[in-house]
Amino acid sequence: MTGKMTMPLGRLRLGINIDHVATVRNARGGDYPDPLRAALLAEKAGADGITAHLREDRRHIMDSDIVGLMAGLSVPLNFEMAATDEMLTIALRHTPHAVCIVPEKREERTTEGGLEVAKEENRLAHFIAPLRQAGCRVSIFIAAERRQIEAAARIGAPVIELHTGAYCDAHAEGRFADRDAELERLRDMSALATELGLEVHAGHGLTYDTVKPIAAFPEVMELNIGHFLIGEAMFSGLDSAVRRMRALMDEARNEAFGAGVA
Ligand code: PXP
Repeated sequence: MTGKMTMPLGRLRLGINIDHVATVRNARGGDYPDPLRAALLAEKAGADGITAHLREDRRHIMDSDIVGLMAGLSVPLNFEMAATDEMLTIALRHTPHAVCIVPEKREERTTEGGLEVAKEENRLAHFIAPLRQAGCRVSIFIAAERRQIEAAARIGAPVIELHTGAYCDAHAEGRFADRDAELERLRDMSALATELGLEVHAGHGLTYDTVKPIAAFPEVMELNIGHFLIGEAMFSGLDSAVRRMRALMDEARNEAFGAGVA
C-alpha cells in the first residue's frame, strides 16, 4: 500500500527517554545519577521533549522524578504509563504535556509489545477521555497493525506511537529480509494512520544504525529514543549522543525531501 499523505510534512521532533539514568541510580539507591540532570542536558543538546515511564513497580523512574521533571523542564514531558487507575490519578495530578499509554507486564524487561487497543476499545476510550479533557496530548503505543490503528482512531486517540522494536531487533540480529519487511509494514501503517487523521510517532530500540529509515517517513512527527542514547552517553557523553542522533534524523529528512524540511 502506498498511502496518500494527508498532513503536511512537519519538523521531526526528538523525545529523549531518560528512564535508564534512573536504572543506574537505582542500582545503588541514593540519588545519583539524577534523571533530571540528564533531561536538562538533553534539552540543551536539542531534545524537543523528555519521556519518562513511571512503571507500576517503580524499577527506574519514581514518583519524585515526575515531580522534579514537571518543575524543572523547559521542554514538554511525555509521561509514559500503563492504563491503570493509579497512573490515571498521577497523570491527572500533574497534567503533563503528553501521556503515552503503554502495555506493562511485571515480568518484562522492557515494553515488549504494543497495546491491544482492538481488544480493549471500550475501556481505553473511557480511560483516555479524562486525560484529553485535562488537556494532555494522549498517544497510544501500538504495533504497526491495521486493526490496532483503526481501533486507536475509533477510541479518539489523537496520536499513536508505532513500536519499532521488531524492526530494530531484526537489524541487530542480521535478519535483513525481516528488517526490510518490518520497515515496509511501519511505512504502510504510518500512511494509514495519517489517512485516518492520527498523528504518528515511533520508537523503541532505535539506534544510530536504525533511525534514518524511520526518520525518512514523512508521516512520522516524533521519535522517542532512550536506552541506546543513555548507553552511548557512557562513551561519548549525552550531549554528543543526542546531537548525533538529531543530526542523523535531519540528514534522513533532508535526503528524502530536500534541505530545509528537517
Ligand atoms: N517509546 C515507548 C512507548 C517506550 O515504551 C520506550 C521504552 O521505554 C521507548 C519509546 C524508547 O525505547 P528505547 O529505550 O528502546 O529507545
